[in-house]
Amino acid sequence: MNQAKLHRLLSQKGKDSQELFNQRLATNLTLIQKQFFSLYPEEQHEKHFQKLLKLLPKLFAERPEALRKQDLERLQSGNWHQSEKLMGMQLYVEHFNKDLNGLRKKIPYFKKLGVNFLHLMPITTRPEGESDGGYAVNSYLEVDKKYGSKEDLLELTKAFRENGMYLMLDFVVNHTSNEFSWAKKAKKGDKKYQGYYYIYEDFTIPAEFEKTLPEVFPETSPGNFTYIPEMEKWVMTVFNGYQWDLNYTNPEVFLEMLTNLVKLTDMGVDVVRFDALAFLWKKIGTISQNLPEAHNLISLFRMCLQVVAPGSILLAEAIVAPTDIVKYFGEEEKRGNECEIAYNASLMALLWNSIATKKTQLLYKSLMHVPPKPQDCTWINYIRCHDDIGLGYENHLIEELGWNPEMHRKFLLDYYCQRLDWSPATGMLFMYNPKTGDGRITGSAASLLGLEKAIKTNNDDLMEASVRKIVMMHGITLAFGGIPLIYAGDEIGTLNDYSFQNDASKRGDSRWVNRPMQDWKVISRLKEKDSAQSKIFHALQKLIKIRKENSIFADKNNLELYHTGNDHIFSFERTENQKGLLVICNFDENTRVIDSSWIKKLGYFSKGEPLDLVSEEKVSLNSALLEIMPYQMLWLMKF
Ligand code: GLC
Repeated sequence: MNQAKLHRLLSQKGKDSQELFNQRLATNLTLIQKQFFSLYPEEQHEKHFQKLLKLLPKLFAERPEALRKQDLERLQSGNWHQSEKLMGMQLYVEHFNKDLNGLRKKIPYFKKLGVNFLHLMPITTRPEGESDGGYAVNSYLEVDKKYGSKEDLLELTKAFRENGMYLMLDFVVNHTSNEFSWAKKAKKGDKKYQGYYYIYEDFTIPAEFEKTLPEVFPETSPGNFTYIPEMEKWVMTVFNGYQWDLNYTNPEVFLEMLTNLVKLTDMGVDVVRFDALAFLWKKIGTISQNLPEAHNLISLFRMCLQVVAPGSILLAEAIVAPTDIVKYFGEEEKRGNECEIAYNASLMALLWNSIATKKTQLLYKSLMHVPPKPQDCTWINYIRCHDDIGLGYENHLIEELGWNPEMHRKFLLDYYCQRLDWSPATGMLFMYNPKTGDGRITGSAASLLGLEKAIKTNNDDLMEASVRKIVMMHGITLAFGGIPLIYAGDEIGTLNDYSFQNDASKRGDSRWVNRPMQDWKVISRLKEKDSAQSKIFHALQKLIKIRKENSIFADKNNLELYHTGNDHIFSFERTENQKGLLVICNFDENTRVIDSSWIKKLGYFSKGEPLDLVSEEKVSLNSALLEIMPYQMLWLMKF
C-alpha cells in the first residue's frame, strides 16, 4: 500500500486499530491473493489461501498493544527510514559488550557518537561450533543463552524505544540450520518436514541444478547439495553444508515463516533484514537468484506484514548486480511493495575501486547506470559490513574504460590482499576460486585503508593519509542519501583481528578478520586528541552531528552527480528547495584542482564565499581553480 493511501485511511478519525487492520486487509487482499496464487496455483492451494486468511487476523490479535500503537504513529508520521536523523551501527553482541544487558549499558556510548539505529548480528540459537556467525539458525525466536534471555531482548527494545533508537535484526529467510526442529524431523524420515526442504533420493535432480548453480563458498563448501547419511538423501545447501535451503514451493513453509516473521517484529524489531533474499526461489536451468518468483514471494511477505505490523519494514540483503538490487524495492505493480530499504552494495564496492585506482570514472559510470529507486524507498549506505567485499562491477562498464575486467579484478585483489608491496592495504583474500580467478576481500576498514601498515611501519604520512581516507569514505556514506551504517569499531579505526586463525570453528572463514572485539580501552582514551583512533572518532562524531542538524541530508531522492573534469574527484549535490549541499572528494594522494565555474553556476558563491561544513571554513575562489587536498572531503553549503 502506498503512503498516500495510508494517510487517507488514517485520516478517517475514530477508527480503532482493529478497524484499521480490516481496512488494510481489504486494501491489500487483491494483490495478496494474486501473488499467492502466482506461486501456489489456485486449483491445488485454495485450502492454503484460506489458512492464510485465518492466520492474518490471528497474528494481528497477538501483536502487543504498545507496538500496535506505534504502528499507527509510524503510518501517520511518514517515512521515518528516510530521515537525516538516522545513523546506524552494526555489531556482534558478544564482540561489543558481552551480551544484551551489556549492550543496553552502552546506550550512552551510542548517544555520544550519535548512533540511533542498531543492526545486531544473529542472536538466536545456533549449532555449537560452526554456525556462520549465527546465520545457521536453530530457531527464529529463541534467544541464545550466551546473549541472555527473551526478557533481556524485550528490555533492550523497550530501552531503545525510550531513547528514540531503532533496532534491526536478521530474518534468515532462505535457510535453517541442520539442527532446526524441521531438519531434525526430516532426518528422522518425517515426510512432512522433508517437504520443507529440497530433498532428493539420489543425485539426478541435484546434478541438473548443479549445471547452472554458482558456488557461494567454493573453498569451504563447494557444490550446492549435501548428502545426509541418516536419511540417505541429498539436501540443497547453497551456503554451507549445515545450512539447509527452505523449499518455498511448499505453501506450508511460507505460512510458517510468515508466522516467524511477524513474531520477530512483535519483539520490537523495527527493521527486519531479509537475509540472502535473492536466493529464495530455485529453478533448474537458472542460477536460482533474483527469479521473478522470489520477488513475488518477498512481496507476499511484505504485504502480509503491512497488514499485520505496518510499523515494521524490510531491508533487502541482495548483494547482486546494481540493476538487480533496485528490483528489490519492487517493480511495476509490486513497486514499493517489496523492501523499503536495500544495501547500497554497488556504491560500497565502487568506493573501494576508487580508493585502489585513485580514480572515479567507474564510480560515475556505474552510478549513472543504476535505475532510479521509488520515492518511498531508501538505501543503507556503508563502506563495509561483517561480510567480504565482492568485486561486483559490470564488465561492460570496465571495458568502456579501456580496461580488461579480469585483469582489473586481479589488480584489486592484489592491491587489497597484500600482493603488492607498495599498496597500503592489509586485507585478506576470501573464497579465491583458482578455476575462475574470482575472489573477494576481507579486512577491517582501517586495515584496508592503510592504518595497519602505517602503525606497523611507524609511518606518519601513511597514518595521516589513512585517517583522511577513513573519514572521507564514511563521510560519503553519511551524505549520499539513506541510512549510513558503520561497522562497530570502525569509528575508532580498529584493525584486523587475526585471532580467528586459532579457532577451529572460524579458521576457514577469513570474514572473521573484520569482526574485531570492541576496544573499550581505546574508547576510554579518546580524550587524547592526537591518536589516529581519536581523530577518526571525533571527525565522525562531528560529521554525524552535521548530518542530523540539516534536513538536506534526508533521502528525498534529491541527489545529482556532477562530473568535474578531473578523474580523481567525486562530486554530488543534495538539494532541498533553494538550498544545496555540494560534496567534493579527492580520491588521490596528491592535491588536485578542478575548474570552479560550474560551482559558481550552481549558485554556491551567490551569497559570498560558501561554508565548508567539514572544515568550518569559508571556501575562497581567488582563481578559476579550486584545490582539493589529498583525500579531502568538502561539504559546501548553499543557503
Ligand atoms: C548473508 C549474510 C552472511 C551469511 C549468508 C548466509 O549474506 O550476510 O553473513 O553467510 O547470508 O546466511
